Amino acid sequence: MSQSAAPRSTWSNRWAFILVTIGSSVGLGNIWKFPYMAGSQGGSAFVLVYLVCVLLIGLPLLMAEISIGRRGKGNPVAAMLNVAGETGNTSWWGLLGWVGMLGALLILSFYSVVSGWIVDYLFKALTGFQVATPEAAQQSFAALLGNPYQLALWHSIFMAFIVGVVARGVVSGIEIANKVLMPCLFLILVLLTLWGWVAGDMSAAWHFMFDFKFSAITPTVVLAALGHAFFSLSLGMGAIMAYGSYLDKNTSIANTSLWVAAAGTLVGILAGLAIFSLTFQYGLQPGSGAGLILQTLPLAFFHMPGGNLFAVFFFLLVLFAAWTSAISLLEPFVSWLTERLSIHRPTAAWSTGLAVWLLGLASCLSFNEWNHYRFFGLNLFDALDYLTSRIMMPLSGLTIAIFVGWAMGRAAVADELRLKSRAFTLWFNVLRYIVPVGISLVFLSSILGWVE
Ligand code: TRP
Repeated sequence: MSQSAAPRSTWSNRWAFILVTIGSSVGLGNIWKFPYMAGSQGGSAFVLVYLVCVLLIGLPLLMAEISIGRRGKGNPVAAMLNVAGETGNTSWWGLLGWVGMLGALLILSFYSVVSGWIVDYLFKALTGFQVATPEAAQQSFAALLGNPYQLALWHSIFMAFIVGVVARGVVSGIEIANKVLMPCLFLILVLLTLWGWVAGDMSAAWHFMFDFKFSAITPTVVLAALGHAFFSLSLGMGAIMAYGSYLDKNTSIANTSLWVAAAGTLVGILAGLAIFSLTFQYGLQPGSGAGLILQTLPLAFFHMPGGNLFAVFFFLLVLFAAWTSAISLLEPFVSWLTERLSIHRPTAAWSTGLAVWLLGLASCLSFNEWNHYRFFGLNLFDALDYLTSRIMMPLSGLTIAIFVGWAMGRAAVADELRLKSRAFTLWFNVLRYIVPVGISLVFLSSILGWVE
């Protein structure tokens, strides 16, 4: 049976593709995780290693994943099957598409819950709610986590916005949403960075992020940075593959990938500068980990003049970033339902959304009522995060590198990338050797518990 009956959508132009892919990659990872990881993993050491990892591992893999999508012209499963078939490989490779699609839905279920926290804080900022002491900041966050109804409400609202976009289609839904949200995101980010410069201690932030101390590079830092490079580029979950499948033949994959990697990194750095300039200005700790933006930053908002307005813009920024990423987590499976089972797109989007929403409800409960249900000692929320980020993402990334580097055949890969021969050879060898070794290290380290 043919994998795609209806004509497939194509992005309006190259910039539309760059924008949606940046939208997918720039998310909670860049604005929330990157600054706090930099904060707790030695500042500049982490930043520098992260940049190297993006160039050496992230970028090559990003190009590989887009190539499969575009050549396979289909949802992640169909794309893998098509390319594997064309290059004389077994249809077992189709499994990779399945792992990606299902992994993306798992991620979405808790990503939406975290995005819900951001919605909560946005409302708090809008209604003028403030915290004056570290204890108050902790208590207000704990109160949120302890309230399943509140968590579920924000999670539901967020999911509805995601489904609403995906239901409208690739060009009239996803592309339009990104064309509106991403420019807003960049504007807000620039505004906040300038504001942080005026109102905060930008020079301390700058030194913290860029004063390079060779001694601060430890194996833990390297592994954390490598894992994060992977996460922040949305690799291995079929999202980039699905987006790549709507890309026309004439666009340069290398060129667009460079834009995406550069933009994602820039966003993380600007967000870090904005956040740390305030953190240092008010004598707060940069190394507080995951609580950095929800518990440390609100204290700075309290002390700074106009802090409430800053907070509104800040949480709006995070929300926009999360929104465009979450869209790309839903699209792979929805495209499979529409293409493989010929289900009408809105129906496909709403029913997938419903399933993800239900799983998300379980995550909301895992912080309170269901906190005693444990999977290897973790509550459901943490278990899903662990399973997807530390197991599924690295394994499917590794598989993509092996497929494109070793199974697809040099001719087909070269035909898709159309690079000058020296650039191609360089890229191909990095993908064949450096990427698999790098990912295996991250994978083993997290499984064996070498990092946090
Ligand atoms: N890159 C996203 C972020 O930084 C999160 C993410 C991880 C993701 N894997 C993904 C998004 C796969 C889409 C697809 O927040």
